[in-house]
Amino acid sequence: MADPDVDVALQRIEKDYPCSDVKEMTIYYDQCAQTYELDVANLNYATPRAIAEAASNLALDDQKRTWNILDLASGTGLVGEALRKSGFSGELTALDCSKNMLQAAMNKPGLNNAGILHTLTVDSPVPLPDSTFDLIACGGGFGKDAITAKCFQEVIRLLKVGGFFIKSSRISDQLKEFHKEFEEELSHLETSQRVKVVASDMYSQYHWNTSGGGSTGIVSGKLDVYQKL
Ligand SMILES: C[S@@+](CC[C@H](N)C(=O)[O-])C[C@H]1O[C@@H](n2cnc3c(N)ncnc32)[C@H](O)[C@@H]1O
Repeated sequence: MADPDVDVALQRIEKDYPCSDVKEMTIYYDQCAQTYELDVANLNYATPRAIAEAASNLALDDQKRTWNILDLASGTGLVGEALRKSGFSGELTALDCSKNMLQAAMNKPGLNNAGILHTLTVDSPVPLPDSTFDLIACGGGFGKDAITAKCFQEVIRLLKVGGFFIKSSRISDQLKEFHKEFEEELSHLETSQRVKVVASDMYSQYHWNTSGGGSTGIVSGKLDVYQKL
């Protein structure tokens, strides 16, 4: 017997997802902002917790209180919320191109977010100075029609020397080309000694298992941690 909540979530999160360009994607997220958290909860979305755990492994207790953090492609603020729950109490800025997703992040009690409504592309950098952040966390924001591989350089620009970038992206056939492009960008940045890989792990990003076995599945994700040199 299928679980209707899981079926609805899969329809909205997986099947309705548009692929043509960032404009269409922004409209999609504006439309699904109200149902996003319900849907990802029904699919046991694990990314925010995975990012917060990775960040906790990098920071000493006093750094948790002082790090200036960017939640890049914040969506409704789930990553920021998980970081707060893990003890990160310094400045936290959410950035997203969807007005409605960002608004939900800004409305979350206790986050004290600053919010930036901005579409990050190679031609449209984030309107902030170099070396602003100690940590940039990005859960599911990089991808083919979202934040493109070339924007890795912009993330590095925004980090302080020694700062960390934690990125989660899903593993799927549709994103094969994106992952290849990202590896090329990484290789340039490593060769020019601007960045090093600290950790790279696969994990279960979504999984669902409905009663009666009507619909079961798993979507794998890759969690990468980089450090600016
Ligand atoms: C899969 S959602 C993830 C949201 C959140 N990080 C989470 O883990 O729940 C992707 C988010 O990235 C945002 N996004 C995608 N491309 C973007 C871009 N180029 N600039 C800014 N935000 C972008 C979308 O609006 C959406 O809110």
